[in-house]
Amino acid sequence: MKPVIIPLFDNIKLASTIAALCNYDLGSVLLRNFPDEESYLRVDTEVKNRQIIFIASLNKPNNKILALLFAVETARDMGATSIGLIAPYLAYMRQDKRFHPGEALSSNYFLKLLSQYFDWMITVDPHLHRHHDLNKIFIKPNIILHADEDIAAWIKQNVNKPLIIGPDEESKQWVSNVAKLVEAPFVILTKIRKGDREVDISVPGIKQYKEHTPILLDDIISTATTMLKAVQCLQKENFAAPICIGIHAIFAGNAYQDLLASGADKIISCNTIEHLSNKIDISGLVAQKLKNFQLT
Ligand code: R5P
Repeated sequence: MKPVIIPLFDNIKLASTIAALCNYDLGSVLLRNFPDEESYLRVDTEVKNRQIIFIASLNKPNNKILALLFAVETARDMGATSIGLIAPYLAYMRQDKRFHPGEALSSNYFLKLLSQYFDWMITVDPHLHRHHDLNKIFIKPNIILHADEDIAAWIKQNVNKPLIIGPDEESKQWVSNVAKLVEAPFVILTKIRKGDREVDISVPGIKQYKEHTPILLDDIISTATTMLKAVQCLQKENFAAPICIGIHAIFAGNAYQDLLASGADKIISCNTIEHLSNKIDISGLVAQKLKNFQLT
């Protein structure tokens, strides 16, 4: 029997495209809340003796984790042979250090929990900063995919004379790759984070790139404070309005509207999290890997 892909939460579009590209079946789960906000979950697909792949983007993770684990338990009870997770966005990865005494090392605990439930995992550009190796915290087979080629393809098709700009040191890994693929120059700004919504950004000498189209590229846009500050810095340098590209479009609260109002030319994201800024499709990237992955 073919493996079956089951979307959870808001990943139906992505799951059906990936299922079609892999020629796998598409299953479904019914999920709703009882009036007291406990979760009701029903797996509506035959899973006995089948390889199951859940697709769940894990933004807003606290609202999702219990239902995700219930789905896995139910599928195992019903006789699934293996259960994998495609998490296009993997949450909690930024709390990868005890910055102050007593803080939870959330990235480690979250991935430890997931590895207790799933047989394998595929994810896209997880925020690996201080953790260099996902295998140390997710102790099951896993694959990390990178959206750099899809991002580069979008830039090549849509932007004339790009300058790729990373807002902080962490962004250098994906900014330098994308710049190489589009054969464009790149610069990295310096960021000091002072709080959830407070960052200082400084810009190195970039005057020689005045004729370029600035593209700010980051992995996660959450409060958009980082992007917003970077847009303001470019305004001070009299640059053209930048295109802001985020791999994972979290956009907490009014972040999207605030960033648009700040003077960004366009806001573009990959569809790892469903959002109206999605313009870069990563379903081919995931499907290609999944087809060649030895499902346990
Ligand atoms: C930082 O470590 C990340 O790469 C992003 O720069 C950060 O998560 C963006 O967050 P915000 O949009 O809240 O500034």
